[in-house]
Amino acid sequence: MTDEPLELPSRPRRNRRTDAIRRLVRETRVSPSQLIWPLFVIDGADTREPINAMPGQARLSVDLLVKEARRAYGLGIPGVALFPALPAEKKDRVATESLNPDGLLQRAVGAIKDAVPELCVITDVAMDPYSSDGHDGLVIDGEIVNDPTLDILAGMAIAQAEAGADMVAPSDMMDGRVGAIRAALDATGHHEVGILSYAAKYASAFYGPFREALESAPKTGDKQTYQMDPANRREALREVALDVAEGADVVMVKPGLPYLDVISDVRESVEVPVAAYHVSGEYAMVKAASQLGWLDGDAVMMECVVALRRAGADMVFTYAAPDIAERLQG
Ligand code: PBG
Repeated sequence: MTDEPLELPSRPRRNRRTDAIRRLVRETRVSPSQLIWPLFVIDGADTREPINAMPGQARLSVDLLVKEARRAYGLGIPGVALFPALPAEKKDRVATESLNPDGLLQRAVGAIKDAVPELCVITDVAMDPYSSDGHDGLVIDGEIVNDPTLDILAGMAIAQAEAGADMVAPSDMMDGRVGAIRAALDATGHHEVGILSYAAKYASAFYGPFREALESAPKTGDKQTYQMDPANRREALREVALDVAEGADVVMVKPGLPYLDVISDVRESVEVPVAAYHVSGEYAMVKAASQLGWLDGDAVMMECVVALRRAGADMVFTYAAPDIAERLQG
């Protein structure tokens, strides 16, 4: 031990010495403006059904959904993503209910746009919440067929646009869906409705709690013939390039944290904004450990969003959006 300081011209700790300095040198910022809150909607009134594996999240009837949307907007959150939970009797092979102008999702979109017109409402385009087979595409003889699914998705996107959606978000991973949806929207006068494409969506076990929330798990088989293999990195760039060429306005990588390398690659390879989805299973893991007292859930949730932003995501879908926005407001 000596009192003489070492000769160290470079001392990175100088930039971490005070909170003021740390704020000045911070490379990545998170603001509520970068968050999108996914919400689940059910039929009925004044109904809130908690989702077992997603503590803090619930299926909400349209009236309560509107209240939550208003609260989110008040917290500075610019967007919500809506997912309808339908009873089995409303589901069939061809997702007929998805086209119903008075269907649950369409009513939810209309109610939110009436109450909080400034809020960006994003709707999911995929057959699974409406499909008796629980797949994102049409099932014929046990096979998830690509091209016949595109007409159904295009019709669904038009119904959502007609209800007032600001962006439609194809999450089905069929080939050619972005082009088909863009053409259908333009042909029906919806030039202003954007497409946020789930461009690099992996066949992930992290979607478990979401499928419980919608009771939308596949009845047979899995989603590996359309969603991507978690082992593949370069393939994400191929998917993203196709979606941009077909007219995607925003591209998404999903899930989030296990795929930071993919987010980073995608951010480097395209000019359009990139979204990341911190999915249900990621949220559930943090909440579960937090409930056990094993980690500080709020701090970890914030760190997850920082990491997704640092990797290159311009915006983040997270179930914790209002909690994070509240924390950011201090
Ligand atoms: C449906 C869809 C899924 C998610 C978003 N849209 C599930 C799936 O593909 O099986 C997952 C979201 C989450 O886990 O939070 N096409």
